[in-house]
Amino acid sequence: MDPKLLSRYQSSSGAAAYRRKYERSWIRRLSNRRELSIVDKALERAGTHGRVLDCPCGAGRLTPTILRHAEKVVCADISAPMVAEAREALAPFEQAGVVSFAVAPASELPMEDDTFDTAVCHRLIHHMAEAEERAGVLAEMARVASRRVVISFSDDSTWKGRSQRRRGVHRRRSALMPDDLMAEAAPHGLKPLGKPLRLNGFHSLVAIAVFEVGQSTS
Ligand SMILES: C[S@@+](CC[C@H](N)C(=O)[O-])C[C@H]1O[C@@H](n2cnc3c(N)ncnc32)[C@H](O)[C@@H]1O
Repeated sequence: MDPKLLSRYQSSSGAAAYRRKYERSWIRRLSNRRELSIVDKALERAGTHGRVLDCPCGAGRLTPTILRHAEKVVCADISAPMVAEAREALAPFEQAGVVSFAVAPASELPMEDDTFDTAVCHRLIHHMAEAEERAGVLAEMARVASRRVVISFSDDSTWKGRSQRRRGVHRRRSALMPDDLMAEAAPHGLKPLGKPLRLNGFHSLVAIAVFEVGQSTS
């Protein structure tokens, strides 16, 4: 991830701003609702139940949606201030004993193998320009999940992706063709369950891939 962006996420003011980001205007609230609805569809496709990892959890935006499918969610993020924001936002769930928290990098999680039914990794790998960095995350998600991994990426096969490439637009995020993500995921035993779900290929690159966890070959 770009060090400047990471240090923003790791500051208290940056974490607080990220928590408010999706509530700042009606258009953001609408796009947030749409995004959460494809997360919901991805979890439905995955048949998610039981214990789920939400990493990176950011300010806890996805967790209530995940809890529609899961009994318990562990929210993890590399940024302690971000976890503090999530903890405040999700206080009633923590009090009910259904949410807990960890500060950890997605490529080095302090959990045993197969701890979760599903590992959700939303809005992280599009910040990773190097395949090696993404491999660290894919391997760790596959290790801690016993059945499913749900992971978002910037889909370069969308209308927006193709248009940006044609116009030579400089991109701050790393976009991948779906087949390239599938090829990167395969050595970790991750087999795609259907085609990635897309937010809106005209306005957005966001797509979510659902994987079945099998035997790793790496
Ligand atoms: C764009 S936010 C996404 C948060 C949340 N999934 C959401 O969609 O609201 C990216 C998050 O990734 C976290 N992060 C960055 N690098 C990370 C890493 N290597 N491991 C875990 N979290 C990381 C940041 O602290 C930040 O909270």
